[in-house]
Amino acid sequence: MKLQGRVAILTAAAGAGIGKATARTFAREGATVVITDAHEGRSIQTANEIKKEFGIEAIGLKCDVLNLDEIRYTVAKTLDLFGRIDILFNNAGTNRPSRIVDMTDENWDIVMGVSLRSVFYFCREVLPIMMRQQYGRIISITSVAGFRGLAAGHAHYAAAKAGVMAFTRCLAMEAAPYRITANTIAPSFIYNEFIPNLYPEEEIQRMFDEIPYPRKGVPQDIANTALFLASDEGEYITGQTICVTGGSWMR
Ligand SMILES: NC(=O)c1ccc[n+]([C@@H]2O[C@H](COP(=O)([O-])OP(=O)(O)OC[C@H]3O[C@@H](n4cnc5c(N)ncnc54)[C@H](O)[C@@H]3O)[C@@H](O)[C@H]2O)c1
Repeated sequence: MKLQGRVAILTAAAGAGIGKATARTFAREGATVVITDAHEGRSIQTANEIKKEFGIEAIGLKCDVLNLDEIRYTVAKTLDLFGRIDILFNNAGTNRPSRIVDMTDENWDIVMGVSLRSVFYFCREVLPIMMRQQYGRIISITSVAGFRGLAAGHAHYAAAKAGVMAFTRCLAMEAAPYRITANTIAPSFIYNEFIPNLYPEEEIQRMFDEIPYPRKGVPQDIANTALFLASDEGEYITGQTICVTGGSWMR
């Protein structure tokens, strides 16, 4: 098992997508997992399911990443219960599509707050702990939108995701002397069961048609990459973005 003895905090990990798949993968490899999500009931339920399935320690906590008090509580509770924090998986991200001319301050602030400021808040809280431990792995989910933009209506999302990559490169420089690594994973379109509720059928088909590799990207593709970065095998990689896109990055 690749993460035996490690303690991981994951944000937005009680949905149907990347967060939960990564939590299950870390648990399968022996890690203790702290499942956080804005939705308290689903956090607790997900933690209980994972605990039962993999026989590891898991707890579920409500943590809306817009709320600094809940972030501080999550970090303090994890330390209190498990004594260390080895892995931080910043998964939370949100999008409220709107063209720039129509974009409200509120929409801008929510997309920036969930997708970018939360990474800063969580890192500021866990870094002193990881520095004391002389060990840490910070993995944040960005998007290829942060490199190349997206269709009209996603300027705030693309800017936030580009910000996560730039922030992580600076973080990696500051943290490296303490044997802490910081990396990002940039997916393109990753399918989950809620996607049909979010996009029209033609839009989903268009996104698939952009992918050269002949299957859908799924949350497990991102979880596998996160496991590599969190494991001993990823030790010497820091300040990087790994694109997991089935080749659509080349389009
Ligand atoms: N799905 C894709 O195609 C895709 C592509 C590129 C990047 N991403 C990024 O991957 C990450 C995960 O996306 P996903 O689609 O796999 O969904 P996911 O299931 O991993 O995340 C959804 C969860 O986020 C939670 N959440 C929403 N707002 C929150 C907040 N303020 N605080 C805490 N939790 C909150 C929801 O309650 C839900 O349970 C996001 O950062 C997203 O921007 C996704």
